[in-house]
Amino acid sequence: MKLSINLVSTVVLFSGLASAANSRRAPTPRRASSLLINPDAFPDLPTVQAATAAADAAGLNLDDIQGDVLIGMKKNQELFYFFSIADAVDFKPKLASDIVPLITTTTQLLDVSTEPTTLVNIAFSQSGLTTLNVTDALGDSAFTGGQFKDLKTLGDPGSTNWVPEFAGTGIHGVLLFASDTVDNINTAVAGLEAALGDSITKVYSLQAAARPGSEAGHEHFGFLDGISNPAITGFTANPMPGQSVLNAGAILVGETGDTVTTRPAWAKDGSFLVFRQLEQLVPEFNKFLTDNPIVEDGLTAQQGSDLLGARMVGRWKSGAPIDLAPLFDDPALGADPTRNNNFTFAHADSVLATNQTRCPFSAHIRKTRPRADLGTPEETVHHIMRAGIPYGPEVSDAEAASSTTSTERGLAFVAYQSNIANGFRFLQQTWANSANFVHAGVGVDPVIGALAGAQRVVTGLDPTDSTKATTLTTDFVVSRGGEYFFSPSLSALASTLSV
Ligand code: HEM
Ligand SMILES: *[C@@H]1O[C@H](CO)[C@@H](O)[C@H](O)[C@H]1NC(C)=O
Ligand SMILES: *[C@@H]1O[C@H](CO)[C@@H](O)[C@H](O)[C@H]1NC(C)=O
Ligand SMILES: *[C@@H]1O[C@H](CO)[C@@H](O)[C@H](O)[C@H]1NC(C)=O
Repeated sequence: MKLSINLVSTVVLFSGLASAANSRRAPTPRRASSLLINPDAFPDLPTVQAATAAADAAGLNLDDIQGDVLIGMKKNQELFYFFSIADAVDFKPKLASDIVPLITTTTQLLDVSTEPTTLVNIAFSQSGLTTLNVTDALGDSAFTGGQFKDLKTLGDPGSTNWVPEFAGTGIHGVLLFASDTVDNINTAVAGLEAALGDSITKVYSLQAAARPGSEAGHEHFGFLDGISNPAITGFTANPMPGQSVLNAGAILVGETGDTVTTRPAWAKDGSFLVFRQLEQLVPEFNKFLTDNPIVEDGLTAQQGSDLLGARMVGRWKSGAPIDLAPLFDDPALGADPTRNNNFTFAHADSVLATNQTRCPFSAHIRKTRPRADLGTPEETVHHIMRAGIPYGPEVSDAEAASSTTSTERGLAFVAYQSNIANGFRFLQQTWANSANFVHAGVGVDPVIGALAGAQRVVTGLDPTDSTKATTLTTDFVVSRGGEYFFSPSLSALASTLSV
């Protein structure tokens, strides 16, 4: 079944579903405050009116797209509930009757008054679709193979660090639950478990949460995360200066810009969800910074350590880009979404291909979005929508004192894209893990670069001598594995997947 042949029936389904959704959702209790976080530095979500106007102009149906796909890294509390389908014949009708009515749409998240108490989304792995007798090829070989098969490609040192449940293809799907409290999430989980009975089995779960207080929005190394997600035509009303602007098809299957043309019609407006449980060795990372401060006139040792961390990431902890604030953090710049993404690494006083004074070529944000390094205008193929959230406790005094992790913490990494090989996998394998991207010998990404456990060599971290090589003997980010999923449209969940 090809997209073009089935457009008519798809459109009919959409409108039927939208009206059913409206009447169904009217009595939902209204919440007082948002289930999302919204640090000043993050671009605001569009208003419902603005998003609807943009969607109408682009022919996008935001009521049919699961809510987590386009909103980015904004959740307060989130539970990842990985399941296997124990009885597919029993599960399929329940997917339509008990799960679909709970699925949170994109539109619902755009206003506090329409947010549910708990966001619920669902996505399936290839083995899950197979279990449901859904045999259409989705046109994504990484998804088809599953993440376990991809582990070497991603630079993981074997599967010894993998959460055992991720090793193999035993996970059929993931339910995402997000709210402002764990109690709300637990209530939603209990309700759904009661409804689904023995049709599914919980395989593994991970509770994640925004960090406390003023650290909300910061990942565990301390850096504000979620600043630079792409603007999407048909969703984002006002792209921020420097934000990449993508056709919806970069993230959504079957939309303008999706480079694969052989998708089944029902896959339209779905998105591939890459999940990775990435442990972060925070005390070890901090010790590395303390032990190796950048020595430069006018910097204290502490400032030199902070500068080293900022150069590894490409931003200061506040979110201020080092390209615009090369020596000291500038919290006002970090907090201003009209300025904190407004840069390209190109400067009139510097040769783009060789000069690392402002930002190393290996810096995490330069590896994963090289901006002008690949030419102007910027390429639009290798982009993802990041929707991750930290997990695990704050660093304890004992861990800080011993510079040794004793309790796991990290990033529950989530990325949406229409093509895993162009999106997450490309960023990880071809950019972050390559010592020769974007120029020969610059080294791997010091944050996420992975060489199967081998030590990593990076140049450019020292702004006073950019040829100086730094050897990293510890991987501060350790992959604990994950899975590739497909997050279908609501209409696909209510039709093809449940009959
Ligand atoms: C524990 C692991 C990770 C940490 C601590 C981390 C941290 C960060 C931070 C602090 C930023 C800057 C803030 C922002 O632009 O939102 C960032 C940006 C980004 N990260 Fe990561 N990240 C991790 C994993 C990954 C992975 C696995 C990928 C993809 C393979 C990735 C891709 C990106 C991209 C595309 C950006 C935005 C770059 C830009 O648009 O300028 N990150 N990350
Ligand atoms: C899948 O197909 C097999 C063989 O036709 C059938 O026995 C089974 O009941 C089907 N399962 C579902 C969930 O439709
Ligand atoms: C963005 O940067 C350009 C120069 O690089 C500048 O002219 C423009 O004013 C900046 N925009 C904002 C909102 O600061
Ligand atoms: C590199 O760039 C910096 C800042 O953009 C500039 O001051 C410096 O002169 C440049 N170095 C060379 C060798 O061009």
